[in-house]
Amino acid sequence: MAMVCLSDFEAYAKKHLPKIAWDFFAAGADDCSTRDENILAYKRIHFRPRMLRDVSVMDIRTKLLGTEISFPVGIAPTGFHQLAWPDGEKSTARAATAMNTCYIASTYSTCTLEEIAAAAPSGIRWFQLYIHRNRAVSKQLVQRAEALGFQGLVLTADLPYTGKRRDDIRNGFRLPPHMKLKNLEGAFEVCKMSPSFHSLWCLDPSVTWNDIYWLRSLTHLPIIIKGILTKEDAELAVRHGVQGIIVSNHGGRQLDGGPATIDALVEVVEAVQGKIEVYLDGGIRKGSDILKALALGAKCVFIGRPALWGLAYKGEEGLQDVLRILQDEFRLSMALAGCARVSHIDRHLVHFSKL
Ligand code: FNR
Repeated sequence: MAMVCLSDFEAYAKKHLPKIAWDFFAAGADDCSTRDENILAYKRIHFRPRMLRDVSVMDIRTKLLGTEISFPVGIAPTGFHQLAWPDGEKSTARAATAMNTCYIASTYSTCTLEEIAAAAPSGIRWFQLYIHRNRAVSKQLVQRAEALGFQGLVLTADLPYTGKRRDDIRNGFRLPPHMKLKNLEGAFEVCKMSPSFHSLWCLDPSVTWNDIYWLRSLTHLPIIIKGILTKEDAELAVRHGVQGIIVSNHGGRQLDGGPATIDALVEVVEAVQGKIEVYLDGGIRKGSDILKALALGAKCVFIGRPALWGLAYKGEEGLQDVLRILQDEFRLSMALAGCARVSHIDRHLVHFSKL
């Protein structure tokens, strides 16, 4: 089967993954309205393309906190990559490095941070943190990531508890016995728990903005907050001295009924006034989605589920295919909209339809 667009990888993954794994990857909270809205919202945004602008030479590179990446798409943190492919996060790290982009490794990885770093030593990688009730566990993770050459610390702010994902409850989702949350081994008997039990028992729901200062005291890494959806929180992020924000609703897996991330992006970008970088994840499925997000002020976007579909298709190679398709579609959309460089993309390129 020719893999032409990301839906082809989605269809493959749905057909070939065990149902319990597919359902876990696909899940949204409650009746999945925010998950679906993340995708639908792009349809309400239209381009105002410009013509006759010499797009014979295209440059789609950009920078993430000063580090150049080949195009403005990175890999969002998602847990349990071994459910998609035996080599798990090692394959993800290799694919991101081959495509010269950033991979955010999850606290809930099924490979150790050491294995991830060794799989692609030259890669651009950030580490995503869930803060544990036992702060020593989090401190050790952050300092380990820094020592291993991870270049950014992503604090996920939208999971004080796990959202209610109905299919996971119906399926009694838990990791198969041979898979472990390897970065938490020794700290807990987590492998026997379902992820929602783990978060309930081990993650700290009392985290507040003050904990940013605690994180700052642990590491020199830039701190990026993931899960911001409002101008109020964006302003607080700036005031607390973080280096970046990921506008995210966790792929619609947490609070159902919240906004699509592309809609929330507008107020977040306005609030930060260019003081820090703003990124977005959620619902990116084609090159024109990336162009819309950049036009509305995102410096870069990240993909969650599509990366898992790529892994499920052919591991490292499959994820590279997904990234290459997005890269080609993004370049083409830019050219057709009259932008030869990423710096040519601005707010005038899009408008919201009334529908
Ligand atoms: C996630 N996400 C997530 N986020 C995070 O900060 N830490 C994590 O461990 C996970 N795990 C996770 C697992 C799965 C299966 C999914 C689908 C998502 C959220 C993820 O980083 C991102 O916000 C969304 O996936 C983006 O939406 P799309 O691209 O999947 O539509």
